[in-house]
Amino acid sequence: MKNVQVNAIHLKDYIAPSFLVNHVDLEFILEPKKTIVTSWLKLTRNPDVGGPLVLDGDELRLLSIKVDGKLLETSKYAQDNSSLTVDGLPDTCVLEIKTEIDPALNTQLEGLYLSGGNFCTQCEAEGFRRITFYPDRPDVMATYTVTMHADLKSHPVLLSNGNLIDQGVGKNGKHWARWHDPFPKPCYLFALVAGDLACYEDSYHSGSGQDVALKIFVEHGNEDKCAYAMDALKRSMRWDEERFGLEYDLSIFNIVAVSDFNMGAMENKSLNIFNSKCVLASSDTATDLEFERIEAIVAHEYFHNWTGNRVTCRDWFQLSLKEGLTVYRDQEFTSDMRSAPVKRIQDVRTLRARQFPEDAGPLSHPIRPETYIEINNFYTATIYEKGAEVIRMMQEILGRDGFRKGVDLYFERHDNQAVTCEDFVVAMEDANDVDLKHFRLWYSQAGTPEVDTTWSYDEVNKSFTLNLTQYTPVAHGQEGKRPLHIPMTVGLVGRDGKDLPLILEGEEGKQGETSKTLRFDQEQQSFTFISVDQCPVPSINRNFSSPIKLSTTYSDDDLRFLMENDSDAFSRWDASQNYATRLVLRMVKTIQEGTELEYDSNYAQALARNIADETLDPAFLAQMLSLPSIDYVAEQMQVADFAAVDQARTFLKAGIARELYEQFLELYMCGKENTAYSPDAVSAGKRAIRNVALGFLGTLKNDPKGLDLIVGQYEVSDNMTDRMAALTLLASMEGEVGEKALKSFEQRYSHDTLVMDKWFAVQAISKIPDTLGQVKNLLTHPAFSYKNPNKVRALIGSFTGANPAKFHADNGEGYRFLADSIIHLNGINPQVASRLLSPLGGWRRMDGNHQKMMKAELQRILDTENLSKDVFEVASKSLAR
Ligand code: TRP
Ligand code: ZN
Repeated sequence: MKNVQVNAIHLKDYIAPSFLVNHVDLEFILEPKKTIVTSWLKLTRNPDVGGPLVLDGDELRLLSIKVDGKLLETSKYAQDNSSLTVDGLPDTCVLEIKTEIDPALNTQLEGLYLSGGNFCTQCEAEGFRRITFYPDRPDVMATYTVTMHADLKSHPVLLSNGNLIDQGVGKNGKHWARWHDPFPKPCYLFALVAGDLACYEDSYHSGSGQDVALKIFVEHGNEDKCAYAMDALKRSMRWDEERFGLEYDLSIFNIVAVSDFNMGAMENKSLNIFNSKCVLASSDTATDLEFERIEAIVAHEYFHNWTGNRVTCRDWFQLSLKEGLTVYRDQEFTSDMRSAPVKRIQDVRTLRARQFPEDAGPLSHPIRPETYIEINNFYTATIYEKGAEVIRMMQEILGRDGFRKGVDLYFERHDNQAVTCEDFVVAMEDANDVDLKHFRLWYSQAGTPEVDTTWSYDEVNKSFTLNLTQYTPVAHGQEGKRPLHIPMTVGLVGRDGKDLPLILEGEEGKQGETSKTLRFDQEQQSFTFISVDQCPVPSINRNFSSPIKLSTTYSDDDLRFLMENDSDAFSRWDASQNYATRLVLRMVKTIQEGTELEYDSNYAQALARNIADETLDPAFLAQMLSLPSIDYVAEQMQVADFAAVDQARTFLKAGIARELYEQFLELYMCGKENTAYSPDAVSAGKRAIRNVALGFLGTLKNDPKGLDLIVGQYEVSDNMTDRMAALTLLASMEGEVGEKALKSFEQRYSHDTLVMDKWFAVQAISKIPDTLGQVKNLLTHPAFSYKNPNKVRALIGSFTGANPAKFHADNGEGYRFLADSIIHLNGINPQVASRLLSPLGGWRRMDGNHQKMMKAELQRILDTENLSKDVFEVASKSLAR
């Protein structure tokens, strides 16, 4: 390790700020290479805390400081490369600071930068300190007035938070605008945009009669791709009023789409800035999944207006306070807009694919971490997705009405405050008069609990006993795990496939419900149900009521039975995943032993009965028919063998395709619609099932009929969902068919940078023999750029993160390629570099040879000069723990 400043921050060290900022006046003279920023901070000493004023600053050129209008001598302040300290200030004063910054040089995309010639900002988490010296911490909340000056011709649109209060035209082709945000906010919610943008407009009429002007700003030529995001925004606004009683609080709401962006989107007060990928969509450019994602992210950022902005975080250890809660809210929104079970299934897939491995690996941390080196590394699946699961469990425990009462009390108490996760839990307790003392452990304890279940039926007493044992493995840095309070929803399925009434021993005389949430809060617990007149199959953790790994003693027959009968759609799907995982793992063993693979047709027959069930929603059926991913199956092995899992999974898929050939053909043919494309959930579900069927047919080598269907679909489809589904299959075929389709796609979409990202990604996840060679060639394609995070993720990220069998190639070339990419990106964009790293952290689960190669690459990264804090933290933790 060279030239790295390692400074870990700890939650226990929190102290309140020594000065509060009542109001901020900002002035920007915007020039690409030299922007002058002047700030006037109205300061008040915090009576509870002593000490000097310490302002954060990063890559700023300080021009001058004044206190109450008087120039401050250089002896009165001290500056180092990350802070500015001013001592001896009066208890109240106005501090004026002038700085110079270079937006054109800012490739980190934090602070003020240029994207396609337009100025924009990204301040969360700690980007504001790259704009001006400031107490860059979320518990300092101030109102803002922002004046910007820019060239009228090249930057006609000038935006910031709040309301436009004045504007004018200046000399030399300049113009200016002044915005005022009446709501106090932390600086991470500050935003500014100056550019040449087209505007797509609409309006919203709120429940209480307020009119809100809605505007989406995009690069010229993209106006025709805004309608869906706008519609999603209006539905989000309505939904939040209806579900949580939360209305929007200003008369203007702006969204700006930019091409260069580190994450999905940002909830800056009244000026959300989005990765253009998360806004722009048309039938010809976006897939159904992308439409769904746009809807969810628009809602997510809008919902932050209350959960994040009106009530914000005291410090960054509380990040899940806003993110977990807002993800939970956007998940609920999507389940109301679309199919609730399908949404739950998708979310659990994501949780298992990203959060479970994170929580079992070297970067494991609780949803409220206790220490970090670089906060950007903590925008994780744990903070977001597990955080949302913890909120969901509270709503499961308190009921929907009880949860709502808690949320109401939270806003009543904490509006305009910067608070903690603890404040949220206390509001839930106080509103419901319950004790969540034990439940709180979910906030501080990392790791995924493993729950073992056994059961027995007592024929004589007609009782059924469920025995539960929980155990949380020791995650890195956290010993001595304690049992958690797990809300465990169960049902008992009778032999006719119908749910039996549930009466817990001790609760005799109660009316039996058919699903019950048990309070499972000890290491070992047994629950006995009485008056169970026949031996049932238990359905456990229905709707994924808790984020656990469940291990059961189901027989194959039990799983097939649940696949066909469970009234809980999630558990029905989970039985299917469970069964398929079992089969693949059995085949992997066969492969490793070098014996002949055998195909078991029982699974396909259970699938066939689902296909034949016409009452099933096509979107749900598509989920039932989608096999678990290679990563998910490999996760279940002591020593992961990706190549063997890939081979076994492909063998199983081809076996199912052969056995259900007629059914798949029929699903494909019958689902064909002659109506124009619509992105709604029902139409998307129909496309999903057809494309799943096509995917099965595509696994059959030497099946000219299947190939014809795929090529035909690629050529004639009128929408990106179908075109992309076909292209994905073709891109994995060696030789002319694949190459021809890729060439035609490139020609057709070379003008559309977002669609070209799909073209990069589909080649990176291809199964052709030399995928890596193909990826390396594409690095020099004119449409590729290391400076654009979407491009990096599409090409490099897809290969290293979504093509495990290739990435883990025995020659170690995949590892070397990833390390080379990270070392290169470290100097351009540390956040993006660091986020690419996680596949190398999985070395502990590989065999000795792979381990050695992966560790060597991690070490090579750590030996790089001028390593960023971001990359240093992840690489060193990955190697050391
Ligand atoms: N708060 C944003 C969200 O959840 C996340 C985000 C956007 C972000 N851009 C970022 C976080 C840059 C860190 C850095 O919607
Ligand atoms: Zn968020």
